[in-house]
Amino acid sequence: MKLWAGRFRKPTAADTEEFNASIQFDYRLWREDIDGSLAHVNMLAAAGILSETEANKITGGLNEIGAEIEQGQFKFSSDREDIHMHIEQRLIEKIGPLGGKVHIARSRNDQVALDTHLYVRRQTGKVLGQITTLQHTLICFAETHLDIIMPGYTHLQHAQPILLAHHLLAYVHMLQRDRQRFMGCLERADMMPLGAGALAGTSFPIDQQLVADKLGFSRLYENSLDAVSDRDYILEFLAAAAICMVHLSRLAEELILWSSQEFGFIELDDAYSTGSSIMPQKKNPDILELIRGKTGRVAGHLVALLVTMKGLPLAYNKDMQEDKEGLFDTVDTLTACLAIMAAMIPTIKVNRSRMRQAVSGDFSTATDLADYLARRGLPFRQAHVVIGKLVQFCLDQNKVLEELSLEELQRVSPLFKPDVLEFLRPEAAVAARTSYGGTAPEQVRQQLARLKKTIALDRKPSQPQ
Ligand code: ARG
Repeated sequence: MKLWAGRFRKPTAADTEEFNASIQFDYRLWREDIDGSLAHVNMLAAAGILSETEANKITGGLNEIGAEIEQGQFKFSSDREDIHMHIEQRLIEKIGPLGGKVHIARSRNDQVALDTHLYVRRQTGKVLGQITTLQHTLICFAETHLDIIMPGYTHLQHAQPILLAHHLLAYVHMLQRDRQRFMGCLERADMMPLGAGALAGTSFPIDQQLVADKLGFSRLYENSLDAVSDRDYILEFLAAAAICMVHLSRLAEELILWSSQEFGFIELDDAYSTGSSIMPQKKNPDILELIRGKTGRVAGHLVALLVTMKGLPLAYNKDMQEDKEGLFDTVDTLTACLAIMAAMIPTIKVNRSRMRQAVSGDFSTATDLADYLARRGLPFRQAHVVIGKLVQFCLDQNKVLEELSLEELQRVSPLFKPDVLEFLRPEAAVAARTSYGGTAPEQVRQQLARLKKTIALDRKPSQPQ
């Protein structure tokens, strides 16, 4: 008989059993469920609601169940609905009717809320660590490739030369904002919902602060309705994960592009590429494509839960059971992608001559020539037109800017002096961009130093487990 079946005359229809159940996926909350129950029982004893002996028996039973699950000896079946019912029913099997006392002053509504708070908190701690590792990897890569110049792009057209290190560090900053979003999520998940009961609180003299202290929560929910119907912390986790995946996807896309024959900027390691079943010459960036591809499903999980939540009246509704599969899949996807990205970055081989060659045969120092004229007093708008004409001249003559002679330059503007030839070199263009956060090597080195400091600080604070 089901734990709640007292008022029922008929069993659940066979075809709804599986449909109603969540054990197929929420078995993943077993550890959190047991941790939560242990803290609850401990509090019930401290509050005099359970005797010490009763609490000890229940605690012993719960610990044994934990071991059974860990060793794969626990039996799951959909007629026991979810992980909460499974553990409670097994407890009753093991220690008799006393097991039913575990649910005093508690509802599955506040129980499942507690479990998912614990789960999100734990997983967020893991994700934060992985983000830091990936940042560290990118920083090391940037540092060992500090002298490499490549084209910077806008609209995927050559724009201005930049340092490869500068390009890569942009991702470290994106990941830093991801960290901050996950930290925010951690703060919102750091609230203890147990005691809300089904929705209105409980009449038992419980001590919620004690449960919070045992489980390491810093705050209690102020409103029992909010405690059981809040899923913001899951939405925030999904949103932070979706944005983080977008960053990984953009990085993956660039690496895919750079490893194409047309770019030839990098070569992916054999260990992180795959071949073709028909074309013997192929080396495909499948791993990166999968990171890019999996971004769609994480974004989908966020949208799915937003839509699930948007029409729900207070307080608990079974719709909320739908929060779990997307959350679990997001955790699996994000943690796998972060790990793979961090492992593959150091294996990438950079073709420095190809990158350098790409900035020689283009017009990416045109802005520097316009700036040269502007510095000599010509309004920038006019300087822009003059250099535009010069580019047109080069295109007609089948030349690049670096091949122009001083005479040819002076023909378009008498403001050009011999020192202009220096400005045509990509190295000079890079070195000149000394504004804060610019691509000049000196600026990039300072940026690196600041990032290293930030990340060293991030590594320190102990994250709740
Ligand atoms: N399996 C349920 C869920 O995941 C647990 C809460 C069930 N509560 C209820 N009143 N039916 O949301």
